[in-house]
Amino acid sequence: RTFRIAAIPADGVGSEVVAAGRAVLDALAADSQGAFAFEWQEFPWGCGYYERTGKMMDDDGLEQLKEFDAIYFGAVGWPTVPDHISLWGLRLKICQSFDQWANVRPVHFLPGITSPLRKADDTDLDWVVVRENSEGEYAGLGGRNLAGRGPGGEVALQSALFTEVGCERIMRYAFDLARTRTRRKVSSVTKSNAQQYGMVLWDDVFKRVAADYPDVETESVLVDAMAAKFVLRPEDLSVVVASNLNADILSDLGSALAGSLGLAASANLNPERRFPSMFEPVHGSAPDIAGQGLANPIGAVGSAALMLEHFGLPDQAARLHKAIEATTAAGVLTRDIAGTASTEDVTKALIDALGA
Ligand code: NAI
Ligand code: MG
Repeated sequence: RTFRIAAIPADGVGSEVVAAGRAVLDALAADSQGAFAFEWQEFPWGCGYYERTGKMMDDDGLEQLKEFDAIYFGAVGWPTVPDHISLWGLRLKICQSFDQWANVRPVHFLPGITSPLRKADDTDLDWVVVRENSEGEYAGLGGRNLAGRGPGGEVALQSALFTEVGCERIMRYAFDLARTRTRRKVSSVTKSNAQQYGMVLWDDVFKRVAADYPDVETESVLVDAMAAKFVLRPEDLSVVVASNLNADILSDLGSALAGSLGLAASANLNPERRFPSMFEPVHGSAPDIAGQGLANPIGAVGSAALMLEHFGLPDQAARLHKAIEATTAAGVLTRDIAGTASTEDVTKALIDALGA
């Protein structure tokens, strides 16, 4: 069958890594003897579009995206546009409007890449960070110019929203995922000692949901301690479930521990499949290296593998993972992981490895 994919490269290295991912997916389809195909439509949205039109995406953009089987996203953000405008105007708008409440971010070691973790050679690292993607600290609640409070000057308020339903669904997602893994463990992350309402609700829901999964080991860890644990006890983690902000921060740490932010893949899922899900590398637009052929495409290609799983093509996803491992093992590495290969070199190596 033919899968219709909306490509939104957006800004900076987004276009370089989306082009790489598309080339790899097209090579996979070409090799499938017509079993499946990808039909792409590219959307020009992002900061450049904003500078021309005053909008990050078309007013009816969500309508345009609705009919696609998936969205393949690059990265949004550029120094000429305030980050909160670009992020809310495109990525968060899509995630929240399409109820992509589960953000799944696998983290694992790849062959041939040095991790900054001290015990890298003898330590295993194989996690999935499951990020609540619809509420929490990114609910967008609050305001500025709240006169009459505080010590003086402007006052701003930014609230986090936690709902029982929102907590429960992301936790069930994490537990169901843990059951598919060798290590059946879910670690819940909060800061419920300091955030005494929303995160205590999160903890309560976690205890209740955990009771339905007696075969899955659990722990609750405060986010500051979890940051340390990521570095010191990586072998003790499997599935990590956390709120929007905490998981955002922890997953960047996780990908850095695996070797580079450029390696990390993610899926923004609407598990009910009422709306398209969105697949994107964890990293941002990397203005410091954009347009130079230096971007590591592996995070974007790994995200394409997550999209294949979503399409019900797990064997093809596994082929992509094997190609990624063969490429890093062969030392075809971009600069962020201590190599000299270009984005294009890596893309070509990945496509060659698919054929091998
Ligand atoms: P960033 O992820 O763009 O860059 C952080 C560091 O990682 C930089 O040194 C960059 O060169 C490196 N890096 C990132 N991706 C790489 C890749 N594929 N290959 C090699 N190196 C890579 O984060 P930063 O600098 O904080 O943000 C830049 C812009 O991206 C901002 O406008 C920010 O708002 C936006 N952003 C967008 C995201 C999204 O679209 N999902 C996520 C994070 C940031
Ligand atoms: Mg992030």
